[in-house]
Amino acid sequence: MRPEVRERAPGHPEEALQVGEPIDPAPQSLARDAGILAGYPARLGATISHSPPGAAEEESLTLLSKRDTKERAVPENDRIRIVPESGGRWISWLGRPIRYMAGGEQTVGTYGFCWGRVPPGLGAPPHRHAFLEGFYVLKGEINFTAGNRVVTIPQGGFLAIGGGTAHAFNVVGSGDAEFLTLVAPAGFDRYQAEAGRPVADGSGPFDPPTPEDLARMRSLARTYGYELDSPEDAFRVEPEILARQPCEGPMIAASGDLYTFLAEGEDTGGRYALWDAVVPPGGGPPPHIQTREHEGFYVLEGELTFRAAGEEVVAGPGTFVGVPPGVAHSFRNETDRPARQLIWVAPAGLEKLIRETGRVVTDRSAPPPPPPPAPDELERLLAAAPRYGVEILSLEGR
Ligand SMILES: [Fe+2]
Repeated sequence: MRPEVRERAPGHPEEALQVGEPIDPAPQSLARDAGILAGYPARLGATISHSPPGAAEEESLTLLSKRDTKERAVPENDRIRIVPESGGRWISWLGRPIRYMAGGEQTVGTYGFCWGRVPPGLGAPPHRHAFLEGFYVLKGEINFTAGNRVVTIPQGGFLAIGGGTAHAFNVVGSGDAEFLTLVAPAGFDRYQAEAGRPVADGSGPFDPPTPEDLARMRSLARTYGYELDSPEDAFRVEPEILARQPCEGPMIAASGDLYTFLAEGEDTGGRYALWDAVVPPGGGPPPHIQTREHEGFYVLEGELTFRAAGEEVVAGPGTFVGVPPGVAHSFRNETDRPARQLIWVAPAGLEKLIRETGRVVTDRSAPPPPPPPAPDELERLLAAAPRYGVEILSLEGR
């Protein structure tokens, strides 16, 4: 028997969001190029903010500057944020490209998220900072030195470095490394925006930093709690790190998907939880609202359809989707081949609902149960969701 779906109570968060002013959709061509369905009604419960390379992104990200704190008509945090592949704010940092997809301004300071590329032999100098930093390697291989340890993370692996742990990294092998950086709380995004050099896109060239660039980075570092001159002793102590080699981590089958946890709340002091999600055709959770966490998605493979307030966006590899708390949303694989994405929540919490209602998987090679999820899983989900501040809106199609 299918579980009954509750009526929505008055004063539902979705209604509360019907106050947003419409924003201009992305230029049709850009939206099409990005595989995004352009055009949405004048008023949306959750306004979708497309961020193609260039103007729109520039405007929102100038707010990252501490000097500019003026109110916006539509709070950034009521929006679903879509940043297509190659979109976002590009920065030349130490002569390498960085693409910011979310900064503290969009996440109420809970996290910052960017992509970066570094050539072989280069990396980041020894430093430390108070925020928790996570690296997911998309391509190539990176050697991290953290405290008294050296950890090599190849493509598909993840390393989280705790606040206060001195660290450095360099790219090994013959090719560039590409990686995603998730920091919590946000703040480093503002440092990089202020100390780096803005560039239009990722086409380069990315010139080596000038002495002035380096001086600016150094002089601003302290302001943002970034310490460049870690004492040698800091590299003699046991580091606070969490390393996941590719395909390593607890696995849970939930919502028809296979989730592999890269970091959970206990690992991050509750700052965030991050997991790799294999979403088979037909997979994805029912529409829901979480009231506590900012959620981020980064598509790694295949294509996923995200829905918010009746609108939909088809997202391919390299696309970021940011969902603030209180916004109804869902995603589904509507293709005939598996998709994969990273999903994270900040602060952590939602992963506990997944653990409680999903099923532990021990054999990675066993095929996951095909969607839709079994009725007993949906019943568990409906019963447990309120304890995690989550409202399941509909089981339609489930
Ligand atoms: Fe760092």
